[in-house]
Amino acid sequence: MRKKIVAGNWKMNTLPSEGVELAKAVVAGRGEVCECVNFIVCPPFTHLSQVIEAVKGSNIAVGAQDCATETKGAYTGEVAAQMIAALGCKYVILGHSERRQYYGETSETLNKKMAQAYANGLTPIYCVGENLEEREAGNHFAVCKAQIEEVVFNLTEEQFANLVIAYEPVWAIGTGKTATADQAQEIHAYIREVLREKFGALAEECPILYGGSCKPSNAAEIFAKEDVDGGLIGGAALVAGDFLAIGKGF
Ligand code: 13P
Repeated sequence: MRKKIVAGNWKMNTLPSEGVELAKAVVAGRGEVCECVNFIVCPPFTHLSQVIEAVKGSNIAVGAQDCATETKGAYTGEVAAQMIAALGCKYVILGHSERRQYYGETSETLNKKMAQAYANGLTPIYCVGENLEEREAGNHFAVCKAQIEEVVFNLTEEQFANLVIAYEPVWAIGTGKTATADQAQEIHAYIREVLREKFGALAEECPILYGGSCKPSNAAEIFAKEDVDGGLIGGAALVAGDFLAIGKGF
């Protein structure tokens, strides 16, 4: 039985006080959703520590949205995986399309970040997904395959057993345009097949989340698909009621 996960990527939203309020509201409503759902919130670096404090004692985990490629040292502006882990974070989002697109993240940098995450006991939520042009050209399978092969295939079995993958089609992120449940299932099943080539039966255990305009009204239909194990939620994660309602989609 694969883990069911609903993770909120807050992106560059909320001031510290607002983030704490949001986290507390998620904690307050948590009881309405099945214990079987693993909730993760990923606030900006600036309020990771306050949010960790706010969710203490609940079964809500906290993740960061990125980490540095290096361990420590003269890298102005960067935040090391060991710093994130020291706060009590359990997860780190890596390879989000916004980081690939706006900050030039490549497989080369992501391999280093993945190594940093594992060296510090963090579980990466590794994002893959095609843009509109690639989808329209029918290249979405090849794009996702390459993003997996170039990074995930470098992991040991032990590391792979502690990985979450998020499929996020760029054309569905923040656009209100969601992949259909069938489109999600088609590519999730394909991603699992690619993972199976390298990791065999372990691929059955890897949670693959869908991300891109996921909201309470469409979560249940998408999560009902066999190879969809939850969601990585952007906009709807900023409203506690919506975030929790997505968890009720299982
Ligand atoms: P939206 O849910 O706002 O489309 O964002 C999805 C996403 O990018 C999560 O990482």
